[in-house]
Parts: sequence; C-alpha cells; structure tokens
Amino acid sequence: MIKILKNKLVLFSILLGVILILSKWLTGEFFPSTSDNNLWFYSGLFMVLVSSFFIEEYYTSPRNILANILPLVVIFIAVKQIFIDNNHAWLWWVGFSYIVFILLCSFLSIILNDDDRSPDNYKNILSEYLKNIATTLGKGKLVFSAMFLYFLLTFYSINNIKVLSLMLFWWFIIVADPQKLVNKISIKKKYSDDAVGRIISVQSKKIFLVRLFQDSLNAKIFDIVRFKYTVQDDETLVCYGFILETFLLNDQKWVKILLCKEEHDDALKKSFEKNIVYRISNDEYIEKIIKRFVGVIVDGSEIGKINFECYNSNEISEGDLLEVNLNNKTIYYQIIQGIAKEEIVEKKNETGFIKGQAIQLGKWNNENYSFEKHGWVPDINSVVLIADTSEIVPPAFEYPEYKLGIIPNTTLPVVINLHDAISHHFALLGVTGSGKSFITFEILKELRIDTKIICVDFTGEYHEKLKGLNPKSILHDANGVTQIEEMIAEKETATKSKNSKAVLDLKHKIQGKLNEYIIEFIESENKIGIFELPDLSNTTFILEFTQFFLENVFNIAKKGSAERICLVLEEAHTVVPETSFIGDLGDFGSSKAIVNKIGQIALQGRKYGVGLLVIAQRTANVSKTVLTQCNTVLCFQAFDETSFTFIGNYLGKDLVTTLPNLTKYHAIVTGKGVKSNIPMIVDLTREL
Ligand SMILES: Nc1ncnc2c1ncn2[C@@H]1O[C@H](COP(=O)(O)OP(=O)(O)O)[C@@H](O)[C@H]1O
Ligand SMILES: [Mg+2]
Repeated sequence: MIKILKNKLVLFSILLGVILILSKWLTGEFFPSTSDNNLWFYSGLFMVLVSSFFIEEYYTSPRNILANILPLVVIFIAVKQIFIDNNHAWLWWVGFSYIVFILLCSFLSIILNDDDRSPDNYKNILSEYLKNIATTLGKGKLVFSAMFLYFLLTFYSINNIKVLSLMLFWWFIIVADPQKLVNKISIKKKYSDDAVGRIISVQSKKIFLVRLFQDSLNAKIFDIVRFKYTVQDDETLVCYGFILETFLLNDQKWVKILLCKEEHDDALKKSFEKNIVYRISNDEYIEKIIKRFVGVIVDGSEIGKINFECYNSNEISEGDLLEVNLNNKTIYYQIIQGIAKEEIVEKKNETGFIKGQAIQLGKWNNENYSFEKHGWVPDINSVVLIADTSEIVPPAFEYPEYKLGIIPNTTLPVVINLHDAISHHFALLGVTGSGKSFITFEILKELRIDTKIICVDFTGEYHEKLKGLNPKSILHDANGVTQIEEMIAEKETATKSKNSKAVLDLKHKIQGKLNEYIIEFIESENKIGIFELPDLSNTTFILEFTQFFLENVFNIAKKGSAERICLVLEEAHTVVPETSFIGDLGDFGSSKAIVNKIGQIALQGRKYGVGLLVIAQRTANVSKTVLTQCNTVLCFQAFDETSFTFIGNYLGKDLVTTLPNLTKYHAIVTGKGVKSNIPMIVDLTREL
C-alpha cells in the first residue's frame, strides 16, 4: 500500500517537475510570475494533476465534486474581469452557470440519498442520477482543463511550439481513460433482485447483522439472500445465505444472516452494490440446507461435544444424528441433550431459545461400518444439519458381526462383533421391561452357530422364550437335583460343626454330580443349556450351588473343550450380588467368599474361552468385581445413581445424563465389541 503511494508520489513529482521545466522554457522562470494570466493557467494545470492523482483517483463522489468546485467558484468570481477585458463575458457566464449547475446536482444528490431505504426507492434513484451527472460533468480533470485551456489559448498563439507542448502534456494527463468517462455517464443497470437491507456489522465470519430498509420489512426467516460486503477478502466472491433471525432494535427491524456459501460471479460483481442484501427467490444449494437446518454451533463446543443453538426444534430428538461440515468432511454428531434457556428468550425476539448438545461420533467409515473420531471442533456459527445418510449403503456382513440396531432415524447400522463382545464379557443393563432379555434371546440365536450357551436363569423365563431354539435343562432329572440339594444341606451342617473332612468330601461329591450333568450337556448336540434352581428362598444356598456349578464349567473349559462357552447370568444380582447387599443374609463371611470366587472365575474365564453375558436391572446390587470385567456395555434406560457412576466410567459424564431420558428400545452401547469404538445411542426397535 505504502509502496503504491510512494510510486504515485514519485510519478506526481515527475509530472510536477515537467511542469516546472516547461514553465522555465516558456517564461524563463521555474515558478509562474504573479501576473494573473500565468497564475490561472498554471493553477488549472496543477489542479488537473492533483485531482486526477489524488482526489478522483478511484472514485468520484458528490462530496469530491463539492471540494473541487467550491474553490473554482471563488476563482471564477476573481477572474471575471479578465474575461470582460477579453470581451468574453458571455463565456464567463456559460462557465459560471455550468459550475453552479454541478454544484446544485452534488448538493441535491447528497441530500436525497437515504441509506435506510432500498436503492430502488425513488429518492435514491434520483440521488443516483444527480450523482452521476455531477461526477461526470464536475470531474476535476474536466473543469480545470477548461480553465487551463482558456487561459493558455487566450494569451498565447496556437502556433507556438511551446504552447503546443503544454497542450500535449495536458492531453497526456487527461486521456488516462476515456472509456471510463463514457461508462460513467449512463446509470448502472440495477440488479433486479429485491434489495432488503444494508449490512451494518459482521458478527463473525458467518453471521451478518442487517438493518432492513423501511420498504422491505416483509423479509422473514429462511428467506434466501445474496450480497457482497466491504471487508471481503476476495472482491469477486458473491455471498449466499439465508435469514436466520429477525429482531427489533431501536424500533428498527433487523435480521441476522447466516452465510452458507461463496461463489465467484463476475457478472454479479458489477451489478451488486456492496453491503446491500438482495433477496432471491431460489437457490438449490441453500434450499437443501434450509430443509435440513437445525441450528448453528455456539460457544462452549469441544472436540467431543458440540453445543448448538436450535432454530428448528420440531424435527429432532435425543439420539438423532446431526452433521456438520468440517473442512469439507462430513462429521456426525449425536444429540444427547436439549436445554430451554430463559435468558436467551429474553434476548431474542422471535427464535432461538433452545440450546442443544451433541456428542461427536465422527466420520463414517462405510467399509468398516463404524465411526472414526475427528480431531477438531467446528467454528462458531457453523451450520448444523440433520444428517442425511440415505446415500450410504453399508456393505453386507455376517456372523460374528451382528447388527445390534441403527443410529436413530438413519439407516446406519450399529454393528458389534459377538465373538469379541462375549469373550471379553458383555453387560446388558437397564430397568425392567426395557428390552434386555429380548435382545439377549436374539443374540443367543446368533451365538449358537459356534458357541455352547449356558443360561443361569432363576426367572423361569428362558425355557419358554427360547423354545424355538431347543433348549435343554442341564439338571434335567428331579432326582439328581434333590440329591445335590441334600448334599449341600449336609455340607452346611458339617461346616457348622467344623468337620472339615466331611465338608471336603461332600464338596467333591457335589462337584462330581454336577460334573456329570455339565459334561453331558457339553457333549450333547444341544447348543443352549439352562441351569435353573427351583428354590430362591435361601440366597447363600443359591450362591453355593451356583459357585459349584460355575467352577465345574470352568474346570471343563480348562481341560480344553474346543468350543466357546457363553455363560448367561440373567438377573445377575441373584447370581453375582454385590457383597454389601448380602451382609444381612446370615452367613455373611462365606457368601462374600463365594461371590469373590465367582468374580475370580469371571476374571479367568477369558483365558479358557468362557465369556459372560451379564444382565442386570440395577448395577448397585451386582458384584462390581464381575461388572468391571465387562468390556462391552449396552445400557437401556436407567435411573439409579450407582448405575450413573458405574456406567459413567465407560461413557463419560455427558452421555450418562441421557440415561434417564432414553426412549423405548433405545440404548447406549460402548466397548470392545462395538465396531465404532465410541459410545453412542442405538435404536434396537424390532418389527414384531
Ligand atoms: N428391541 C425391541 N423391539 C421391539 N419390542 C421389544 C424390544 N425389546 C423388548 N421389546 C418388548 O418389550 C417387552 C419387554 O422386554 P424384556 O426384554 O422382557 O425387558 P427386560 O428383560 O429388560 O425386563 C418384550 O416382551 C417385547 O415385547
Ligand atoms: Mg428380563
């Protein structure tokens, strides 16, 4: 910038030098003498130079014209006598009227111009005409040239070589750009778009505050607009956007405009007035955005979680997928929260008082049907849209990959690898009726392809529900069960009388008996075995029984039965209760030991291909030793604090807050077994 100014100054000085040299040549002096005639034509020439270099270099406004013309009026009055002496009084009057006419045009143009009204308003149109007349006829080059020429020709003969060189010099300055002069005379063709307002401030890269023209107050939300503004980086870009909000300020109607795209358009460049917002009837790209528009990113957003101000709440709900364009990549976010904010209601007049939160799922990797985290956060005011996944067709997959459900309101599948999920222990949590057993049955149906399934079920539900899969009772004859029960009772008596030898003997006997049953099942063709106990009255008894049973299963697995085994612990609090919950059940010490034992078994199970499927309503009363071993968690709706704390370790505090709000058959899933290694809300609803 400074460089250009310097160059300009250099050029100006050179030209000034030329004038001085010409002056010396013509009159013998560098500086004009004070005699009137010399002075006037030098000042004419000088003013031509100054005005074309500095005043009207880029743009002539009526104010420039006033600055040019007012001194000329004074000069004109001063030189009137010279004209009269030369018998040119009529010429003086012509010149003087000309100047006064331009002066009037400039004045009126300034007075009539009204920024609060659209350029199409009659006042502004008139002002524009007058401005064009004034700036064309009142150009410094033009009026000062006339003055220069008059004095030059009045006092010197045209045949004089010196005079001719002065005239050539003048011509050189004037004929800078004759075409421009012609263009200026005609009024620019106004663009036929509907001008609605003027940009008053740029709130951020994407939001513009616009004051509506008095005669365009019907502009409304979601009207599509385009414009150019003063501080744009690239002059040839035309901005496209839509009206996001309307509000009143100082009794004037304002709108907020959201910039959606910028396009190069040389044709529009000329016909657009800067900072004026023009409404257009349609634009395919913007219309598509508006159709799916949810809101814009607001402050407090992080990489993992965005906050957005919601402008279109009707369409969205918990779990829905949103998309944000980040560096031309589509990044997906899942809604976890909506907060209605009072303070925002007070500030805004018509819209935008719900703040939403969504967690990042990331970029969709279709080959792997999973999400991949994106490592950065979107800009403030980035557009948030309802995700459109209709174009995505995930590839086919087969067992052990299993479609748990979909991302709510999309077609994107949430896939888990059942081998990974089960072998690293899988927990299904949620209140009664949320759908735990239902999904368990579906998973078991898949698993039986290559896994022996042993369900520890005290609800009595499994036989009925798994009927179609041909389940087998592991303790299938009533006699045998009674025998075992009696042996356990005997062992308890022996324990009380501290007869350790008898205790050990009985233990071995029980295990031997149980072993027969389990081996029988493992070696049978049956895939699903059910271990149930009729009597639920004695917790310690159940625990002991279960412990023996599980120990046996593990011992058999250790010996290297080739098949995978999945142990389903339905209503896990009865099988593996939290020790503090069995404190008042009498024989505390031994119960606690039993639970710890089961915990250890769970821990080792992985080594021998025994995986757990733990199903629980509340995490509070289920052994944490067992639960913390579960590397994949599916959690339906839950209300209890312990669950929040426990599951919070897997999900983080943001997602945990959604647990009480999850809708029917929606759940949060996370962990090793899930293809996307990111917690997310999944819709498990099945057509029944
Ligand atoms: N994903 C699902 N899609 C459709 N209906 C379901 C789904 N899950 C559960 N249900 C319905 O809800 C009922 C209760 O589910 P259930 O699995 O027994 O709950 P829980 O075991 O958590 O107490 C089921 O009998 C079934 O009719
Ligand atoms: Mg159930």
